[in-house]
Amino acid sequence: MAYPKRMEISAVLKSSNPGDDVAVGGWIKSLRGSKNVSFMHVNDGSAFDSVQVVLEPSLDNYGRITSLLTGAGVFVEGRVRESPAKGQRIEIVPSRVEIVGECDASSPVQKSGTSFEFLRTVAHMRPRTNTFGAVFRVRSALSYAVHSFFNERGFVYAHSPILTTSDCEGAGEMFQVTSMDLNKLPMGPDGGIDYTRDFFGERCSLTVSGQLEAEILALSLSKVYTFGPTFRAENSNTARHAAEFWMIEPEIAFADLEDDIALAGDFVKYLIRYLFDHCERDLRFFDERIEKGLIGKLGAVLEADFAVLEYTEAVRALKDSGRTFEFPVDWGESLQTEHERYITEQYTKRPTFVINYPRAIKPFYMYCNDDGKTVACFDFLVPRVGELIGGSQREHRLEKLLQRMRECGLDAEKYGWYLDLRRFGSVPHGGFGLGFERALMFATGMANIRDVCLCPRVPGNAAF
Ligand code: 4AD
Ligand code: MG
Repeated sequence: MAYPKRMEISAVLKSSNPGDDVAVGGWIKSLRGSKNVSFMHVNDGSAFDSVQVVLEPSLDNYGRITSLLTGAGVFVEGRVRESPAKGQRIEIVPSRVEIVGECDASSPVQKSGTSFEFLRTVAHMRPRTNTFGAVFRVRSALSYAVHSFFNERGFVYAHSPILTTSDCEGAGEMFQVTSMDLNKLPMGPDGGIDYTRDFFGERCSLTVSGQLEAEILALSLSKVYTFGPTFRAENSNTARHAAEFWMIEPEIAFADLEDDIALAGDFVKYLIRYLFDHCERDLRFFDERIEKGLIGKLGAVLEADFAVLEYTEAVRALKDSGRTFEFPVDWGESLQTEHERYITEQYTKRPTFVINYPRAIKPFYMYCNDDGKTVACFDFLVPRVGELIGGSQREHRLEKLLQRMRECGLDAEKYGWYLDLRRFGSVPHGGFGLGFERALMFATGMANIRDVCLCPRVPGNAAF
């Protein structure tokens, strides 16, 4: 073991007492000093807060240590004492400071107060900042919360495939995957590319959703969920869209839209409660520095009865709002983020399930309502972010599903296995997809999806 006595700084801050001998390793957050004494703040990411190391001139390499810059990696051995400084219980007086990795002034995260835009260009260095350290700790906690929510409720975790030959959302926004030489594509007799000679013998893409495969398992194990990466080649350069994002997709059997909505509401509240219980310090930072009043707003979501609003009523409310929106509102059109935000921020003033959208603007798999015009689905809208979840009851009636596939121009033969699920023991079922990065934006107040991904993939950028 390279540093056998090393403790996590979070543990030292929490449990070490004056007189204890400790050893910590981390990166310098700040160093300021005088001839007589210097203060070095060291952070190892185990907690938001850094530990203060008090450097005295009697220390072996005092001169060299005090000339280190933010970002240098150090290993510190010393004794804990009570700290006279405000806001910290203890500090370390070192007997030895080892300079493990120096950092010079050209480091891109040398100065504090650099913009998020700039930090995106140095995504490999930005986790060293307070903000991104907090983002990635919360991201980790939130994914753990996802698993514990479903595990506590007896759901089976399903691994849906990443490579797929079906377009779940039917939006044609898929990244193609091929092993063919793009400079020498084999052509078929019809003049098109001969995909029978591609790796899988047919055209293949990265998945946009694990839902169709989750349905396979839900129709035998009843309660399942997926949690994995999904990919969309949407050329929309917005603060809410990434080309690669993670989605959580539960799927439940013997369930209708109402059951689906109840599950989604419980899920969202559970996630917030989990962060309150496990990420208090990081949330406090976001509350103070990123989104004023965040904790209060999240607390209000925990207390709120979520609204349920018919799409038709939402359109009416938007038309009656007296607002001029960038995109026109009409029955039959999709709701844009500006509309979604108006509904949840101004009209209902709380998180809102908008239900029963026109079938023409929704995918083929949604359950057709008796009115012949709408499908049994919901979009869950939250302030700031807009759509956080999309879900629906699935069309489990074979004839209706076939009719919808024809309407959507889908080849029933290609979806034979999906239709089999309706031929053999079909039961009402439903599910939803929660965009994990959007949940993170909601929970942290970070305004751009690029700032909750380690290495964001967006149009024109797949660096790092
Ligand atoms: O509404 P969507 O497209 O629904 C589905 O994919 C369904 N198959 C889900 C299901 O019923 N199992 O996507 C679900 C959620 C959205 O509400 C949004 O939060 C997120 O995924 N999302 C994106 N997040 C980031 N970047 C993108 N490009 C996203 N597209 C969708
Ligand atoms: Mg959607």
